[in-house]
Amino acid sequence: MSTLKVAVIPVAGRGTRWMPISRSVPKELLPVWRRTSASYAFEEAVSAGFEEIIFVISPDKHDVLEHFLRFDASDLGPDYSGLSWSKLHERVRVHACIQEKPRGLGHAILCAEHDVAGRPFAVLLPDEVLMDNGISMLLDCSPAVLLMDVPFEQRANYGIVVPEERDGALWIRDLVEKPKPEDAPSSLAVTGRYTFTPEIFECLRTQAPGLAGEIQLTDAMRRYTAAHPLRGVIYRGVRHDVGQPSGLLTASLDFGLRDPEYGDSLRAAVAELLKK
Ligand code: G1P
Repeated sequence: MSTLKVAVIPVAGRGTRWMPISRSVPKELLPVWRRTSASYAFEEAVSAGFEEIIFVISPDKHDVLEHFLRFDASDLGPDYSGLSWSKLHERVRVHACIQEKPRGLGHAILCAEHDVAGRPFAVLLPDEVLMDNGISMLLDCSPAVLLMDVPFEQRANYGIVVPEERDGALWIRDLVEKPKPEDAPSSLAVTGRYTFTPEIFECLRTQAPGLAGEIQLTDAMRRYTAAHPLRGVIYRGVRHDVGQPSGLLTASLDFGLRDPEYGDSLRAAVAELLKK
């Protein structure tokens, strides 16, 4: 049994890539096939056995919390078909804390400090939809971060690590947030799943603003790794970056094409579109 019981899901981002729709609909509630984009990270946390899920919301994103408070077990995948809404909410406590101003991912996580209350915890970024449960891969080697191999031109979109192999395991020696591809120290990118001990909060509290003038989680992790050896685990499953409009559409198509009810008709419609 994992000692990690609490997961933090930050959903306070401004959604600038999603203008104009994000003016009226939070990007986390945009659909990926027949569900909301953030529900995939939520399901991942539920299925990995987390008992408490804290959403970090901005003051205008109460709809996201409402969505998950109303979330029915039948909205989850087939593994949960025997579970009722009340059972889901008996098993998992869902609540939120507020990030008053958009000051970066690191600051958003810091906003959850009071609610995390000195426990080890996980962070799941809902922009990443991982079809094979990513967070569960970190539970036995916490604190840890999930990594993936990315092509050269995509390295500027992610935190990139300096990996080190020791005692048959992968460790993080250093990290850099969104380097120019030619300056990236490796091809291994941080994939939006992390587990930490509460000491990360000390690093976040004293972290100076970095890239884009924001408090970056990656920068705080550089200082955290100095005192707390951080493992790296490589994810090789299917993954979609639904923080990008094209990624959201690709994810929808991927789920849609696998859908026993609609897959065939969708395939035919896409083939027709591609002829144009
Ligand atoms: C964030 C992190 C970055 C990480 C990425 C994963 O960036 O800052 O280190 O690689 O998530 O999706 P964002 O995509 O929120 O700008």
